[in-house]
Amino acid sequence: MSYSMQEQENKLSLIKSGKWYDFPEIYNLFSFSEDKGERCIGYVLDYIKKNDLKIKNPVDLGSGTGKIYDQLIKEMNYNGDVYLVEVNPNMIQYLIKKYGNEVKVLKSKIAEFQLKEEKSNFIISSFGFPSSLFDHENCIRELKNVYQNLTDDGIFITIGWNEKWDDELSLMWKNYVCDNSIRRINGVRNCNLKWYINDIKTSIRFDDFKQRDFVLHTLFGEKAKEDFANSTQLEWSMHMGITIHTKKQLKTILKGLEKENEGN
Ligand SMILES: C[S@@+](CC[C@H](N)C(=O)[O-])C[C@H]1O[C@@H](n2cnc3c(N)ncnc32)[C@H](O)[C@@H]1O
Repeated sequence: MSYSMQEQENKLSLIKSGKWYDFPEIYNLFSFSEDKGERCIGYVLDYIKKNDLKIKNPVDLGSGTGKIYDQLIKEMNYNGDVYLVEVNPNMIQYLIKKYGNEVKVLKSKIAEFQLKEEKSNFIISSFGFPSSLFDHENCIRELKNVYQNLTDDGIFITIGWNEKWDDELSLMWKNYVCDNSIRRINGVRNCNLKWYINDIKTSIRFDDFKQRDFVLHTLFGEKAKEDFANSTQLEWSMHMGITIHTKKQLKTILKGLEKENEGN
């Protein structure tokens, strides 16, 4: 889609219209403004170091514009191939153009991706897993597929919200997109995961007002841009959380979820 069409779309919030992933350049500005101090990436790098992980075939689920590859995977030692799992055709095109043969882009849903040659011992997702937080069945399907693609010594990491919706960015969401806090979920990431670290205090921070206004306008809509027209705010707090599970722990969680299903 061209930028002029995009301008027309922007009268509405692209998030609200469900089209924000169709515009990788805009999404990229948002994504790389989140957790700019890379606190969450820091925790994961520390975990890798502390546990002396020997990573093989790292996989990033719901890669978007490649934040996890750029900020984390490139910083770690690993063997084998890097896999970026993404479903949106525009994001896929963006990733292929950005990285060429450096990575393997898997055009697939998280619930369906398959590592054909070798499994991975390191599957991670930043704001990608689960792909639809309030769809419990799909969360389980995705978790099962992660399990299938992990080696026996593998781990699964998610980086995302703390799920309390108690930060300033969640308030923006509530004001301009929808209120997530009123929706019920079944445990962490809606599939009974456990926190490794929760309530990580970080923020989304824009470089300048031009960037801020562009992102507010396009992603949150015209009203958001107008509401902040006289404000000097460039930063909104974000409260994030990280989960880390071994394959063995995922097995126990999946068994528990199956039992819950049988009971319903
Ligand atoms: C919130 S973005 C996160 C992007 C990136 N990981 C980051 O942290 O900036 C979620 C990404 O997951 C992709 N996505 C959504 N549903 C998906 C699915 N079922 N399977 C694979 N990717 C999906 C979207 O197209 C989008 O690029």
